[in-house]
Amino acid sequence: MKPLRVAMIGYGFMGRAHSNAYKRLTDFFPVQHKPVLQVACARNAEKAKAFADNWGYGRVETDWRKVVTADDVDLIDICTPNDTHQEIAIAAAQAGKMIVCEKPLARTVAEAQPMVDAVEKAGVPNMVWFNYRRVPAITLAKQLIDEGRIGRAFHFRSNFLQDWTISPDVPQGGAGLWRLDAAAAGSGVTGDLLAHNIDTAMWLNGPITRVVAKTETFVKERVHSLTGKVEKVGIDDACAFLCEFANGSLGVFESTRYARGHKALKTLELNGSEGSLSFNLEEMEYLDFFEYTQKESNTSTPSHLRGWRRIHVTNGEHPYMDKYWVPGLVVGYEHSFLNALADFVAGVESGKPTQPDFRSALQTQKVCEAVLQSAATGAWVETGATA
Ligand SMILES: NC(=O)c1ccc[n+]([C@@H]2O[C@H](COP(=O)([O-])OP(=O)(O)OC[C@H]3O[C@@H](n4cnc5c(N)ncnc54)[C@H](O)[C@@H]3O)[C@@H](O)[C@H]2O)c1
Repeated sequence: MKPLRVAMIGYGFMGRAHSNAYKRLTDFFPVQHKPVLQVACARNAEKAKAFADNWGYGRVETDWRKVVTADDVDLIDICTPNDTHQEIAIAAAQAGKMIVCEKPLARTVAEAQPMVDAVEKAGVPNMVWFNYRRVPAITLAKQLIDEGRIGRAFHFRSNFLQDWTISPDVPQGGAGLWRLDAAAAGSGVTGDLLAHNIDTAMWLNGPITRVVAKTETFVKERVHSLTGKVEKVGIDDACAFLCEFANGSLGVFESTRYARGHKALKTLELNGSEGSLSFNLEEMEYLDFFEYTQKESNTSTPSHLRGWRRIHVTNGEHPYMDKYWVPGLVVGYEHSFLNALADFVAGVESGKPTQPDFRSALQTQKVCEAVLQSAATGAWVETGATA
């Protein structure tokens, strides 16, 4: 086994999710590289040390600039707020490091494009953590689509609903609340939540070409944690958009942090001429499939037997599941990161880069930006996104 020396920048939610994946990788996947938790980096040395001790990182740094050029590091993992992604990624690419970056790639297309240019110029392996592609049920959805079981796509609909910012007393900005600060996050639910749905949608159903959107900011002013002053809120609290896909199908997307009772209701449905697919993150081990035409026999199911089928995605034949337990036993949220990491490392080893890379994530960024632009003007906007 060759070592893959990892530098983790950021010790928050994603820092933990990714650290778990590095630690488990070679226990479950037959790759030739074993991650070594080399450096944990964050600005607060004490907190970074506690994180490093907990997860087993060898040393601590407080300045990411020292980390991206360090000789004892092969891979930089960017788990910091969105406003920091560009600077870290470009410096890491220039230092010749492999880069795995959290989503959204950046705050804007203008910020994301030089990141793509930098990794491509340096020729370094790169990936963006759109981990929902690696939920086995969603990967199975992709397989069914590629097998032609959905036929011509007509409709794609997708939601991501939360309820944690309804109180006007929630501040914006600073640790943990940077998502509410437009300067740090770039946007609200569009970049934070819908970016995931858009990435998955374009992976399953091809490029989104045109959008028309409405956003709303329900709480217009909040105390800023860093300044202590009441400041205007610049993010979108909610976003709904209609779109057209290049394949001629129609899309409807909705996201909000004001859906009382919903914590992370993430759904998708695809309806086609030969069948339909439906997924709900709250029951992530299932994929619902309606088969109109049976592909193997090219016959339609007799109508008295026709109905939705609930596939429990836990068999060895299902994506990733031969790496885990026996049929019938489920895996969870954390495995989507482990599966993504396994694909990334396998891609590095085989020379066939895994997706989504920075260029792919740029397409999602273009759609997010078109959505926000449409919401500002009320007009349909061409996204410019490509396959
Ligand atoms: N893939 C997913 O499902 C998913 C889920 C959550 C967050 N994210 C993304 O991951 C990124 C981080 O989000 P999070 O929820 O982990 O945030 P978080 O607030 O939990 O953690 C952010 C970390 O970044 C550190 N940090 C901030 N500025 C820094 C700097 N200049 N140098 C070094 N460290 C710095 C903070 O100290 C903290 O440790 C964001 O881009 C977010 O959009 C992705």
